[in-house]
Amino acid sequence: MKYKIALIPGDGIGPEIVAEARKVLDRVGTVYGHEFLYEELLMGGASIDATGEPLTAETLQKAKESDSVLLGAVGGAVGQSKWYELPPNLRPEAGLLKIRKGLGLFCNLRPAVLFPQLKHACPLKEEISKGKFDFTVVRELTGGVYFGERKTEIEKGIRKAVDTMPYDENEICRIAKWAFEIARKRRKQVCSVDKANVLDTSRLWREVVSEVAKEYPDVQITNMLVDNCAMQIVKDPSQFDVILTENMFGDILSDEASMVTGSIGMLPSASLGEGKLGLYEPSHGSAPDIAGQDKANPIATILSAAMMLRYSFDLEKEASAIEDAVSKVLDQGYRTMDIKSDNTILIGTKEMGDRIVAQL
Ligand code: IPM
Ligand code: MG
Repeated sequence: MKYKIALIPGDGIGPEIVAEARKVLDRVGTVYGHEFLYEELLMGGASIDATGEPLTAETLQKAKESDSVLLGAVGGAVGQSKWYELPPNLRPEAGLLKIRKGLGLFCNLRPAVLFPQLKHACPLKEEISKGKFDFTVVRELTGGVYFGERKTEIEKGIRKAVDTMPYDENEICRIAKWAFEIARKRRKQVCSVDKANVLDTSRLWREVVSEVAKEYPDVQITNMLVDNCAMQIVKDPSQFDVILTENMFGDILSDEASMVTGSIGMLPSASLGEGKLGLYEPSHGSAPDIAGQDKANPIATILSAAMMLRYSFDLEKEASAIEDAVSKVLDQGYRTMDIKSDNTILIGTKEMGDRIVAQL
């Protein structure tokens, strides 16, 4: 089969890690007889520098016409980069929000898995991590405070800013269904996270999720307040299977979740919508401090490419082959800087990509 992949290298380490994922995809194409056709697109800071906008209408259109999008990372160092002072809708991050919304990708999957080979990198004590946890954050991605009305003004000489957090029942219902469907293929537990003791949107969230839950009697549903959830992730992460939550809570909890695995450089993510087109990207950021030095870990992007094969192209065998190849290279003791520990062999971005290719 032929697949058209939009590649968005982005900023910082983005180009280096996307290049490695592309090598891996090419190898999969050769071994399994698929043709991956790439179109490189600009987004984020790279697009601002070239066009003045973080995502142009043409780029969005090209992404829509592709079968799937693979993204590196966008943005510069907070407070330091040349893009930081731009108005909000012209900053690199705005490109990311616009492409998510423009492609209708309301469902963001962020797995948090403790890789057995990297157990020691987990910052939690072993009695807490239990040496094993595997949950996934299902984050609503195109609603809530990220997309609500906002303004900054001066009222009676006082500077004031307002962000609003709207959700309607349809937005909640469709993401809840995703979470239940995913849970069905896993350990059949959904923990819906909200702040229903304070927020109206959270009360509605809880109500709608409990209605959807009735359609999934085989899946266990629990509700948890977001502050408690933040604590439970570091107290007993193995209690979770699927965490379902709104956009901003999901942003925060998914970073926490990836950090407790000790290997944020390993974690992929998928953003999905109604159709097959998805956007796949590592869970980590653009790491401008190590950009261009062959130090970045390409594994999260390579595993994101595997998720793309699985969710957008239904190529399960090929996706698993990539995951197995990554696992073998870790078994052999090869590590990039971020996951290096005693008695392992330090390698760079390119060598990591080459070694994964060699296992396919
Ligand atoms: C993420 C990032 C983005 C978000 C930023 C870069 C806009 O933190 O994907 O988690 O908040 O969604
Ligand atoms: Mg984030």
